[in-house]
Amino acid sequence: MTNKISAAITAIGAYVPEYRLTNAELETMVDTSDEWIKTRTGVEERRILKGENRGVSEMGAPAILELCKKRGIDPEEIDCIICCTVTPDMTFPATANIISRKIGAVNAFGFDLSAACSGFLYGVTTGSALIESGRYKKVVVVGTDKMSGIVDYSDRTTCVLFGDAAGAILLEPNEEGYGIQESILKSDGEGAEYLKMVAGGSAKPASIETVLAKEHYIYQEGPTVFKFAVKRMADVAFELLERNQLTGDDIAWLVPHQANKRIIDATANRMGLSTDKVMINIQRYGNTTSATIPLCLWEWEKKLKKGDLIVLAAFGGGFTWGATLVKWAYDSI
Ligand code: ACO
Repeated sequence: MTNKISAAITAIGAYVPEYRLTNAELETMVDTSDEWIKTRTGVEERRILKGENRGVSEMGAPAILELCKKRGIDPEEIDCIICCTVTPDMTFPATANIISRKIGAVNAFGFDLSAACSGFLYGVTTGSALIESGRYKKVVVVGTDKMSGIVDYSDRTTCVLFGDAAGAILLEPNEEGYGIQESILKSDGEGAEYLKMVAGGSAKPASIETVLAKEHYIYQEGPTVFKFAVKRMADVAFELLERNQLTGDDIAWLVPHQANKRIIDATANRMGLSTDKVMINIQRYGNTTSATIPLCLWEWEKKLKKGDLIVLAAFGGGFTWGATLVKWAYDSI
């Protein structure tokens, strides 16, 4: 009898653009202050992908190439690319296809997955199922978002929050029980009215009127989203612990979506985790939507040890939210 196959994360890559948009620069653009932004959100600077006609594939491709290099594989070996994004290069074709071509993943099929800030968790869960089925050996999940493309830099309530970045992981079969253990994913379409980009889809195609009405930018009712996020992200992370008969003491790391430092703190509290077990880099990158979680894993990779139990948790537009339990599969060299 063969052992049950689980999907292990075996490599991580990321890409962050060079340009740093600091709170000081934002102070020259809108009526805000470094103090307000830091205390209300935790963000100090974010990266911006500058230049004409540059989309998320330009960040996703190098992130995947980095993980291939680290793992010592050729992009031709990749079976599938799941590209999690709400800012695709174009509405169609899928950015996954554009990335495949850029990196030479000629044997991969791929598709885009839209779940806003929970995109990466949805992608990891989908990718794991492909691996667990036994049919696929190398599945890449890349979270890549260029939020600067849909942020209104005259709206102080949103422009201070977001940044651009990509992060990618490789999933491979494991027969020793390492890897993705369980995910709890949720969604609630009631949230669609509080966090959205109104125009450019089939319901309201782009027109001169939609451009003039600024409907191609993020619309967010911040305090309402905050209220839902702070409760639901904490609740789902706690539910994941309970279902697996774990407490905060069993968890080596919480890897939370980086939307707001106050939401992260509430989640850690609910799980009974001290702050030294929480990955936080919101101060340097802001909210990069589907890239936040893999970007944290990338930055903390050297501290992760084989066997560590880690919890990924997210909340985002949709609403979508969830938590994933991972048994880390390798020690970094
Ligand atoms: N600088 C200075 N003042 C500001 C700024 C700013 N950048 N932004 C808002 N304010 C003002 C408001 O106008 C308001 O002033 P008023 O009282 O005179 O009306 C005051 O500050 C308080 O505004 P609130 O919106 O109530 O501030 P809040 O404490 O809620 O913080 C924030 C706003 C940071 C947006 C918070 O609501 C939040 O983090 N929301 C959740 C974001 C999130 O998690 N999004 C989900 C993921 S995103 C995705 O899925 C794509």
